[in-house]
Order: sequence, then C-alpha cells, then structure tokens
Amino acid sequence: METQILKPDENSLFAAKKIIEEGGLVAFPTETVYGLGANAFDGDAVKKIYEVKGRPQDNPLIVHVHKDYDISRIVCDIPDYALKLAKKFQPGPLTIVLKSRGTVSPIVSCGLDTIGIRVPSHPDAQKFLKAVELPIAAPSANVSKHVSPVTAQHVYADLNGKIPLILDGGKCSGGIESTVLDCTGEIPCVLRSGLVTREMIAEVAGDCGVFIPKKGEKVRSPGMKYKHYSPNCRTMLFPYEEREKALEEYERQRAEGVNAWIMCENSVAREFGTDKILALGENGEEFAANLYDKLREGEKVAELIIAVAPKEQGGVMAGVMNRLTKACGGQG
Ligand code: TXA
Ligand code: MG
Repeated sequence: METQILKPDENSLFAAKKIIEEGGLVAFPTETVYGLGANAFDGDAVKKIYEVKGRPQDNPLIVHVHKDYDISRIVCDIPDYALKLAKKFQPGPLTIVLKSRGTVSPIVSCGLDTIGIRVPSHPDAQKFLKAVELPIAAPSANVSKHVSPVTAQHVYADLNGKIPLILDGGKCSGGIESTVLDCTGEIPCVLRSGLVTREMIAEVAGDCGVFIPKKGEKVRSPGMKYKHYSPNCRTMLFPYEEREKALEEYERQRAEGVNAWIMCENSVAREFGTDKILALGENGEEFAANLYDKLREGEKVAELIIAVAPKEQGGVMAGVMNRLTKACGGQG
C-alpha cells in the first residue's frame, strides 16, 4: 500500500472521509501527538488499528470527537464535575473517561464499560473530525512501544506502507499525550498525566486523585502496564541530583568508543559543555514539546542516550517524568 502525506485541504479531507467510511485508517495531527484513526462504530476498522500498530489487544483506545459532537450519543451518567472540566479543558489535551452507552464498537475499549473522550484542539484535527462526521477511535500513530510521533515524518517512519493517508499538520505543539482522567467516581482521578495537570483539574473540580497502581491491584488504565515510548537504542536515566554521574558515564562510554549522547535541560547542557547534546529546553512546556522529537533524533544519531531528569518535578513535569522514565528508565 502506498502511504500518502498530504496537507489537509478540501481534496485530502474528502479522501480521508472516504477512507474512514470504507473502514480504513487515517493518521491525523493533534495538539499532543499524531493519532491513527478509525470509525469508532466499525469494529473491523478498529481491529486494523491494533494490527497495524502491533498493539496489545487489552489496551483500550480513546475516542476523538468534533467540538460540536453530542457525546451523550456514546457515553452516559456524566457527573457535573466532568461537565465543568469538559467546558474548561476541551477542546484541549484532556481525555475524560466516562461510562459507555454501548453504541461504539466494544473493541474500542477492549470490553471495559467506559470510554475515554477527547476533543483535540488542533485546527486540522477539528477539520478532519468535521469532515468525517463520526467519532474516531485513535491511539498515537506509532508502532506499539516506540516513541509517539509529533510530525507526519515520524508517522511515516513507523507506518509507511501500512496505511493509505497521513494528514500533515506540522509539528505538534504539546508534544506528550493527553491527560487521561477517570470521571466515573466521586472525584476525578488522573490515570495518565499530561499537559492538563492534576493541580489545574483540582482547581475546577474541587479535588483530584492520582491513580498509583499497587502491587497486585488491577490496572485501571491498561496502557500503564506496558513498556512505552522507547527509542531504538540503549538508554540510561540519572536523577537531576546525580547529573555529575551522568557526565562521568558519558565520558567513560565515549572513551570506550561508544557513541553516547546526553539528553538534558538547557541549563545542564550549559553546565556540561559537551558537544553531543539533545537539549530539551528551559521549562516544562518546552520539555514536553521537545521530548519525543529528541528521542527520535537520538535513536538516529546515538548508540546510547544518557538522560538527566529535570530539576523541577511538579505540574507539567509529572507527565514529562512519566514519559522519560518509561522511555529511558530501567535499561542500559
Ligand atoms: O493525546 C493523546 O491522548 C493521543 C492523541 C492521538 O489523541 N492518543 C493517545 O492514545 O495517546 P493511546 O492509545 O496511545 O493512549 C491512550 C491511553 C492508554 O494508556 C489507554 O490505556 C488509556 O488511554 N485508556 C483508553 N481508554 C480508556 C478507558 N476506557 N479507561 C481507562 N483508560 C483508558
Ligand atoms: Mg500511545
């Protein structure tokens, strides 16, 4: 299959609509990462997403809708606090998990009785959703476990020949996936951290929990149990306080002939003064926007990425740390 990369315009959006209606897949930009979309009502189309990505069959997909879509067609029992949160943060990088009405294919949520609803704010995502006039089930448009794509070229690198169309909306501004928020309980609970932080949610909803799986407890967001976001090279991760050790490791590896690169925030890059640097930026927002791009750049240029965790840990950094730990932690 030939994979086309097209800018969203009248013709490409018409082509996208046709592919979706015929049960095919279209990759599209969002403000977080690129998504790989299928008609959420069409079980056979949704199955293709799992096949193309090599995604485990028990990891549910979130459903993307146009900002004017009436979500009561697919979910029910929406608590007041969820309505408030939707009003404040949607369109935007917040996915709200609600009770399913049972109208979308059960394959979308892998048999769970809930559905994650996301209203992306990227103008091209909105154009795509308006054109297709359907709720779109979509995970990130990468091969399962690889780094999520933040450009059309990243999608192409992973899925060339496997899907017919990538809508090219430029580089995603957010850079890490949406916050996934369980809204089926008394208070909202963060299942996956992202750019809409726990603090921002608590300010609107009055309170907000964070789900931390205990040993043996059933995982509430099945994606959490898998290795994720990993570049195709060796990685190491050092806490900020141990950055000197990271530098020593870099020098040791280099002396042994290993093509090692350091990934860190700009201030640490200045402190180290080494030349093989993947610099992530000055603050949480820049870190999020650059992380996946730098991981993909890193796997091209380096044999080993030695990452230094950010100094700050609160707010947006919670999401950044979560992704960085999954990408670079626990290997070597
Ligand atoms: O920003 C994003 O969320 C991107 C763009 C494309 O919208 N999408 C994305 O999808 O990251 P994916 O499939 O890579 O991650 C979705 C996460 C997974 O961790 C999954 O387990 C969780 O959301 N999830 C989906 N439906 C759920 C549900 N009903 N209950 C709990 N967790 C759910
Ligand atoms: Mg993903």
